[in-house]
This record gives sequence, C-alpha cells and structure tokens, in this order.
Amino acid sequence: MEDPWQKAYDFAVTVARKAGEVIRKAGESEIKVSTKSSTVDLVTKTDERVEKIIIGSLKEEFGEGTHCFIGEESVAKGEPCILTHKPTWIIDPVDGTTNFVHGFPFVAVSIAFAVNKQLEFGVIYSCLEDKMYKARNGKGAYCDDELIQVSDVKDINKSIIISEHGTDRSPEKVKKIFSTMQKILCIPVHGLRGSGTAATNMCLVATGAVEAFFEIGIHCWDIAAGAVIVKEAGGVLLDVDGGPFDLMSRRMVSANNEVIARRIIKEIEIFSAERDDKE
Ligand code: IPD
Repeated sequence: MEDPWQKAYDFAVTVARKAGEVIRKAGESEIKVSTKSSTVDLVTKTDERVEKIIIGSLKEEFGEGTHCFIGEESVAKGEPCILTHKPTWIIDPVDGTTNFVHGFPFVAVSIAFAVNKQLEFGVIYSCLEDKMYKARNGKGAYCDDELIQVSDVKDINKSIIISEHGTDRSPEKVKKIFSTMQKILCIPVHGLRGSGTAATNMCLVATGAVEAFFEIGIHCWDIAAGAVIVKEAGGVLLDVDGGPFDLMSRRMVSANNEVIARRIIKEIEIFSAERDDKE
C-alpha cells in the first residue's frame, strides 16, 4: 500500500530547513522583542514571520480545507489549540526564542504532524548547529540521515538530566522547580543541564547525550515533534505523575527508558499548568 504521509514528511523537512535559513539570517540583524504571557515570555517578528512562511507553504502544498494547523504564534493571536482527528500540523517556528534574542546558540524549528490524534512524524531543525532531526512512526529516528538511539544507562547515578525554568516566574512555581532540581541533583546524578529549547532537549535525549528531559509548563508545539523523535530513538514518554503522556497537558517526562523516567518522577513536585486545549 502506498505510504500516505511520506510526501508530507519530506515536505516538512524541506520547509524546516527553509525556515531555519530565515532564522539564521534574521539573527544577523537587530532583533526587535515583544512579550506575551509574561515579561520573560519573548516573541520577535522572526517568530511570526517564520510561522507564516511554514503555514503558508504547507497550505499551498496540501490545501487549506483538509489539514489543520496549531502554531505557537497563531494560538498567541487567538487561534484555537484543539487537536481533532483531522490531519494536523503542530508548529513552533522558533523554539528557544530567548536564546535567539540573546545569541545563545540553540534555536530550533519544530514541525509535527498528527492524524486521528496520533503523532505521525516529527521534524526538528536545530538551525544554528545545522542539524536536522526527524522521525516517523515505526521507522526510526535520524539526525542528518544517521540513525540515532537513546542511551542504555539504567543507573540514575550515571545520568545527565535536563530541565528548564519555563516562563512563569510566580514564586511558588519557581520554588517547586528549584526544589525538584535540587532533589534530582542530590540523588545524585552526574549533572543537570538545559539548552533553552524543549525541542533540542528532546533531541539530546534521542541521541543519548542525556538520559532525560522533563518540564511542566511547556506547550504542545514545543514537544510534539520531539515526542516522535524520542519514541523512535527507543525512549519513553510519560506524564509527570507517571501516567500516560498527554500532548495537550503541558507536562512531560521524556527519557531513555522507564527506569530512569520513574526515578525522576519520584522527585518531581507537580504544580498546575492550564491545558493547551482548554475550551
Ligand atoms: C520555550 C522553550 C523553553 C521552555 C519553555 C518554552 P519558545 O519555547 O522550549 O525551553 O522552557 O517552556 O516555552 O517560547 O522559545 O518557543
């Protein structure tokens, strides 16, 4: 039977590369910054422009009526963020906007595609490093056409864990984030890291550079593509309470295996984050 989504997958890779080129070029000029949900939730003209380029190209190729789109900047402007059974593109045009603004060298374009609410493929272009990560359901995960695999470490004491601080600075949430990080650091683990982009963090899990990445407060566009890449590289995805991973819940643990994931989950102090698909 003909593979129905191969063309969409190949096209996503082309569009992600094109978007990354635009981001790289934009980084050479002055960057004008605005804020969204808080004074540390940054957005630039490049985020908006790149999202328009990506969604515009996808609509031109696949038609507006049949495919749906969830894009970070469109949602910020009031578009719905509901995952239906229709073929749906989930897009973060610039993951790591704060990094982009400051010239911190990890910025990614993240494009995922879901059908019947199941993620079909994910493409992440780490555009400053020029690394293309991609994965299709059941077909393995790749970085620049080389098969990638999670690490085989099962001993938490031999792991590196990634987490982020997010963009919510309410003291009680920040306290829980730091308390969780302190507990994990003191298990002890070899180290705690953070690249400033959820998409890149998930690629680091997928290549085996780190054992896990978890965060509360991320959005579906930050993690949708990474979820396919981690899973196809042999990793696992769970909710921070140990239940099944829920793309719209804004909480996630991605890890090389369930032993590491569940050990981290023991230490996570959960705080509330409004779902992406709230009515
Ligand atoms: C952010 C990054 C960051 C994570 C935040 C995200 P953005 O995405 O992925 O690593 O900690 O929760 O919002 O805003 O740069 O696309």
